[in-house]
Amino acid sequence: MPVIAIIGAQWGDEGKGKVVDLLAEKARVVVRFSGGDNAGHTVVNPYGEFKLHLIPSGIFYPQVVCIIGNGVVINPKVLIDEVDQLNQRGIDTSKLFISDRANLIMPYHTLLDGLEEELRGGKALGTTRKGIGPAFADKAARLGIRIGELLDKEALLERLRFILEYKNVILTKIYGVSPLSLNEVYSQYCQYGERLAPYIRETTTMLEEALAKDELVILEGAQGTLLDPDFGTYPYTTSSSPLAGGGCVGAGLGPTAISRILGVFKAYCTRVGGGPMPTELKDEIGDLIRERAGEYGTTTGRPRRCGWFDAVAGRFSTRINGFTGAALTRLDILGVLPLLKICVGYKLDGKTIDYFPGNVASLERCQPIYEELPGWQVPISHIRQYRKLPIKAQQYVARLEELISCPINLISVGARREQTIHKMPIL
Ligand code: IMP
Repeated sequence: MPVIAIIGAQWGDEGKGKVVDLLAEKARVVVRFSGGDNAGHTVVNPYGEFKLHLIPSGIFYPQVVCIIGNGVVINPKVLIDEVDQLNQRGIDTSKLFISDRANLIMPYHTLLDGLEEELRGGKALGTTRKGIGPAFADKAARLGIRIGELLDKEALLERLRFILEYKNVILTKIYGVSPLSLNEVYSQYCQYGERLAPYIRETTTMLEEALAKDELVILEGAQGTLLDPDFGTYPYTTSSSPLAGGGCVGAGLGPTAISRILGVFKAYCTRVGGGPMPTELKDEIGDLIRERAGEYGTTTGRPRRCGWFDAVAGRFSTRINGFTGAALTRLDILGVLPLLKICVGYKLDGKTIDYFPGNVASLERCQPIYEELPGWQVPISHIRQYRKLPIKAQQYVARLEELISCPINLISVGARREQTIHKMPIL
């Protein structure tokens, strides 16, 4: 059995939750490997509709071990609330485990995320203000606290005293806000530690065991490729790697362990937050897509920017992740449009280019070059076989496959598990 990585191929919100929920039926382990509670994975299944921020989308299958990997930053309060909410709705979380190496989001991280955004003024990044950037910055600066450290209260007190002193200087002297109390933060985090202790483990050995038994492991990505700090629209990115390569580091697996990498693409593009988006539609078509698809952030409720499918970005995403296949989601949404456009190149300073520029200022100047295809203009949410899709919908899918240089295995035509067309086997 392979390890399969499910990766956001655009700017996040591609529908990874649904794809993981579908594939997890055959899996033994599902690991979230990056991001934090900036993510919002929507899953609609026989138990109802769920919006998961930290817990892997495999949690609905009793046989699946769900791991929050070392690459995730964890707000313990959000995690505890999520566990409680799932339990209240009858979902068992006894097979949930958290890597002891995962860093914590501390109260100063959320505070600083907001303060930094305010200070950036018109140049704000549009972060989710969940403390993600400051927590990953501290991890890199060796000022982070790992969740495993909550289990040794004495050592935690010493480490927190040292770090909080430093953070309070920043809060009071730079931002002019009140300092945080060591006692309050310490006692709060000790309580979180007591509550989460049963879940905290060394988790790489759990993966090793599953692989030794030839069981299916799914790496569940968060956010999307174009939000990667190296390959995304930097600085308008998130702070951890949503790429397949990030999956190895964030879960604790070697690259050779991964045998399938599935890119999840929406049939059009969306983006939430600041930064360039060459195919953005600031007109009634963009509004129509947003309203028809309910394109509002799962975590922040912000309206998502909507636009045509960007195949230049798509091809780039295939290449840097090494996609072996793709899932195309929300194809049904396009069913009311008489004409569809796909961006096949950019015009940059009078020249035609077919690559995704690394420099954000260049990307901002890129004008999309579109190819036009006729829309199918009929509902398709009830269709389960590829050959039963209207021919114009098949042509749209086939053209995307060609442009992104990747076969499309799955097509999603609605939120529910069964609203899926299995075009080609993944495994
Ligand atoms: P941060 O990850 O909260 O620091 O936000 C940085 C950028 O990533 C902002 O533009 C956010 O809107 C975007 N972002 C973060 N998480 C998600 C997500 O799960 N889906 C879509 N956009 C996201």
